[in-house]
Amino acid sequence: MEPRERERFPSCEAVLKDGRSVTLRFLQGDDGPGLAAFYAGCDERETRYYYPHALDREHALANAARADSPTEVVLLLVDAAGAVGGYAWYRWREPQAPMSGFGICVAKAFQGCGAGRVLMERLLEVARTVGPPRMRLTCQHANVHAVALYQKLGFRVVRESMVRARRGWPAEPEYHMERPTR
Ligand SMILES: CC(C)(COP(=O)(O)OP(=O)(O)OC[C@H]1O[C@@H](n2cnc3c(N)ncnc32)[C@H](O)[C@@H]1OP(=O)(O)O)[C@@H](O)C(=O)NCCC(=O)NCCS
Repeated sequence: MEPRERERFPSCEAVLKDGRSVTLRFLQGDDGPGLAAFYAGCDERETRYYYPHALDREHALANAARADSPTEVVLLLVDAAGAVGGYAWYRWREPQAPMSGFGICVAKAFQGCGAGRVLMERLLEVARTVGPPRMRLTCQHANVHAVALYQKLGFRVVRESMVRARRGWPAEPEYHMERPTR
């Protein structure tokens, strides 16, 4: 996200269902080590459902190095100690692209207490004025909590397909979901 766009959306605080306070802020160039620590804490459940790339240090550093990209918005959820507890993003191919692709991953310690929802609500607020007019994602049928969250936030199923077998997980069905951003 370009720095001038970032300035339009200041960091904000949120209180999770269990009373923890967290900060939502955009990814910065020096977040590589923090993102790497977050990836290192992800286990099979996260990697079954979230697999944009290997969740390793190399990709964490590469992602942080692209923090100022004009075709990507990455929002972090950070705890009181400054540790990354989750993140959500959307990105698109070229300036006039009709559609962006969305992804989200929340650390186990933050799941089920509203972290995913607050990340998505803030990101969708940004997407009303930054990026393409539609957003899409894919989500395995088995990921029932994610499907429920996406439906509550306005995503609708547009088609279904199969995810290929990978890293110990068998092939399984997935939804392709979309929503307008404005
Ligand atoms: C899917 C994921 C992003 C959801 O984030 P989360 O912080 O766990 O979800 P939230 O606590 O914000 O809950 C959002 C909704 O999900 C559903 N949900 C979440 N946890 C639930 C649980 N334990 N039981 C029932 N429903 C649950 C509810 O519908 C909830 O709706 P509400 O906000 O009206 O209460 C998160 O669990 C995650 O990162 N999982 C691993 C990676 C992944 O699956 N990424 C998405 C790939 S498509």
